[in-house]
Amino acid sequence: VALVVGGIAAGVALAFSRGATSTAGEVEFTRPLAIPPLAGSSLEDGVRVFSLDLQEGETDLGQGGLTPTLGVDGTFLGPTLRATRGEQVRIDVTNSMSETSTLHWHGMKLPAVMDGGPHQQVDPGQTWSPTWTIAQPAATLWYHPHLHGRTADHVYRGLAGLFLLDEPAGSPEAAVQDALPHEYGVDDVPLVVQDKKFHPDGRLDDADPFLSSTGVRGSVVLVNGTANPYLDVTTEQVRLRLLNGSNARVYDFGFDDGRAFQVVGSDGGLLDAPVTTDRLQLSPGDRAEIVVGLAPGERPVLRSFPQELGANAFTARFAGGDDTLDVLELRAADRLTPSEPVPARLASLPAADAASASVTRRFELSGTSINGQDMDLRRIDEVVDAGATEVWEVTSLDDSPHNFHVHDAQFQVLDVSGEAPPLELDGWQDTVYVRPGRITRLLVTFGTTPDAEHPYMFHCHLLRHEDQGMMGQFVVVDPAAAPGTAGRPAPGD
Ligand code: C2O
Ligand code: CU
Repeated sequence: VALVVGGIAAGVALAFSRGATSTAGEVEFTRPLAIPPLAGSSLEDGVRVFSLDLQEGETDLGQGGLTPTLGVDGTFLGPTLRATRGEQVRIDVTNSMSETSTLHWHGMKLPAVMDGGPHQQVDPGQTWSPTWTIAQPAATLWYHPHLHGRTADHVYRGLAGLFLLDEPAGSPEAAVQDALPHEYGVDDVPLVVQDKKFHPDGRLDDADPFLSSTGVRGSVVLVNGTANPYLDVTTEQVRLRLLNGSNARVYDFGFDDGRAFQVVGSDGGLLDAPVTTDRLQLSPGDRAEIVVGLAPGERPVLRSFPQELGANAFTARFAGGDDTLDVLELRAADRLTPSEPVPARLASLPAADAASASVTRRFELSGTSINGQDMDLRRIDEVVDAGATEVWEVTSLDDSPHNFHVHDAQFQVLDVSGEAPPLELDGWQDTVYVRPGRITRLLVTFGTTPDAEHPYMFHCHLLRHEDQGMMGQFVVVDPAAAPGTAGRPAPGD
């Protein structure tokens, strides 16, 4: 008996003392970084048409065998979609898998029925064809499944891809676009960063760490599905489009040699002006565009550094805040093609003015609930007037990490407990890390297409939290036609 008790005690002690994970200096960068192919498209009556196929398969993820995975037009991850502001797009999404899924266009402003949230299910063998007009600035957006209760699993196994938006040639914005590095895969390089854990036989391990509901955090970091990746750089500056495509891990990106870089874009587009820093935090779902300068022959390593994630060190350790992870080695050639300097002025965002808001709503995050409620697909939580600007005040009552994502919107962070947001957060965002114990105030302008029947989602983008119910629904209504319908069941479910 004493032995058994001792064994349990030792097991608990081991789990509680789970220390920092570090791969710093230990990764041998042996594989060239895969660049997701650009998706082909055709023009049908002026509509740009893409087709995507959700598939099951097996992929070599560098674990010495094949891993069962999911992919779009392949066995792991998907191609990069690319469209121009003003263009109408249609995407034929075919589900060739044996289970139902959805495909959501994260960061996109579009009608709710086209959003690909949990209500727009695509059953095996079906094709779903959403269509909309691109009506927002150039940005690095992405797509991923959003089936309620299955999102974490589908994304973890490989269903995700990028959706890049461009400005039309000849527009005033195009001059900046042309001055920034913009040759896809050469000096404008997408990085889908995802941490994984594997079973010894190569299968993905999605088991939660002991006593945590936050979701898996692994010490293998894949970039575009490549383990131990390096990128050959041939230009003096390279633009990296970073996507935190992980389920739960928050990264604090920097370089092993401490070099500074310029942040030029956030979730929803370019910043007003480049921000020079040596660290950049991205929570799950977040994107950023950075420009890094290199000298011939240099080999800096993109790394994620330890960071403060929770109000107490214990929670932070469980959340992976102590970890140091090597992500990608940049290998500058001996001769580099000159790059244009980054323009001093990139965009002109409106000043975020809380006085322009008509309504303030509060969202309290706790456990896996928002305002004490778990997601109910038949309940509308918030009713918003079409075109309205509102303040959304988000507070985490926990000391475990959460973030907050709003569909169909690019918002601005007004302040975090009264303090101005850090400069790199001072751009369009659709997902924001919610620091425990602080009040994060967002200024959100909603879409102008009323549709009382089809809701959009807001949720924590730590995908296991989302699946467990940390999500709510809002509809955008014509203020004259449908006043105050909050709380009524959503029709059609
Ligand atoms: Cu990236 Cu509601 O999702
Ligand atoms: Cu959360």
